[in-house]
Amino acid sequence: MAPCLQFHASRGPEKYVGGKRAFSYLSNIVPEFTDNCLINIIRCGQDYYASSETNFIRRIDPQTLDTLEKVNYTKYITLNLATSHPHYDCAGNTLNMGTSIGDKGKTKYVIFKIPGNNPDKEKSPLKHSEILCSIPAQKLFCPSYYHSFGMTENYIIFVEQPLKLDILKLATAYFRGVNWASCITFNEDEKTWFHIIDKRTRKPISGKFYTDAFVIYHHINAYEEEGHVVFDIITYKDNSLYDMFYMANVRKVFSEESAAISVPATKRFAIPLQHDKGVEVGTNLVTIPTIKAKAVKSEDGTLYCEPEILCEGIELPQINYDFNGKKYRYVYAAQVQWRPIPTKIVKFDTVTKDMLVWSEDMCWPAEPLFIPSPDGKEEDDGIILSPIVSSDPNKSAFLLVLDAKSFQELGRASINAGLHLDLHGIFIPDHNV
Ligand SMILES: [Fe+2]
Repeated sequence: MAPCLQFHASRGPEKYVGGKRAFSYLSNIVPEFTDNCLINIIRCGQDYYASSETNFIRRIDPQTLDTLEKVNYTKYITLNLATSHPHYDCAGNTLNMGTSIGDKGKTKYVIFKIPGNNPDKEKSPLKHSEILCSIPAQKLFCPSYYHSFGMTENYIIFVEQPLKLDILKLATAYFRGVNWASCITFNEDEKTWFHIIDKRTRKPISGKFYTDAFVIYHHINAYEEEGHVVFDIITYKDNSLYDMFYMANVRKVFSEESAAISVPATKRFAIPLQHDKGVEVGTNLVTIPTIKAKAVKSEDGTLYCEPEILCEGIELPQINYDFNGKKYRYVYAAQVQWRPIPTKIVKFDTVTKDMLVWSEDMCWPAEPLFIPSPDGKEEDDGIILSPIVSSDPNKSAFLLVLDAKSFQELGRASINAGLHLDLHGIFIPDHNV
């Protein structure tokens, strides 16, 4: 669940000199980020890559799991960071977001597309990457951190949160002997801005949309309904999750009474796509009767977005990806409650708010992946796969298989090997290998 933006060394002792002249130095100020691709497996064209959140991804052979070549995004697209949670459209294209830091004196968020059909089989599919849209960052050296983004049929949702990377601190961290967590700042007095990009025009829609400060890692899903973009995300009231990376905290014994992290809240926001400038201040412009989220016009013409809280305590969300970008009902997730490590997996019904739960003593689940039935008719026709590790020395790690509709166990497969606690994964059907 936690992001893994890391770096391993600065490129050199170049100094920031200020003013326009500094622009030529910017590329040297940006630290070299890690190539430790430990967050997710992503697909680009017909290829699969282990990914981090940096400019490096590592191709893998999905059949043998052999490690293949390291790929540097910067060879194809100007960016320094890229999320480990791309989206895939119905044409098989991969859409992702990245941050380009200090290029030509500007820092910007970049949305790009990698074609699903690589016309040049001998070359990397990234060679045919295309930038769809760029959004300027508010500060040159303090871009917002983000771990994922949302997508509907026609729109991209980017949440510019007040959790900021301090690039100058990152650049000098190696020499100062400090960790990356100390180079990320949560500004609780700042706003969280929502950018809704129209994929057809490749531009953000007009209007300014914001809410209170929070920290977000995972989008769950987004869809269009009655002239609104609706999106569900998991948020924290602060960045206390980062504090878990300090060794002093890793060694701590946690209890429910001494909970050290804020409990994640699943929030639904709704953004009206058309909003009349003549509307009165204080008017709620969300008009979908079944949604409690609001978007209220402020004095300055911006819209203050108030969420509907769907539930609390879930992370590592997954859905039936056939419903990605569409109105949907079910979320499959790990339940975290007061611990930073999940202890249960759940199926959350966004309509009834009911939860089905799977848990077992001394078992620690990872993200529950939904695999649709080949002949499925309903959204939850399919199975759940979740890798589980156990703190019982007599129990091997296993892959749990649940019926997604009932959450009853269908089986489990063990291997005789030590496995670490997992985060994200991918299901690759036989015909794609
Ligand atoms: Fe993630």
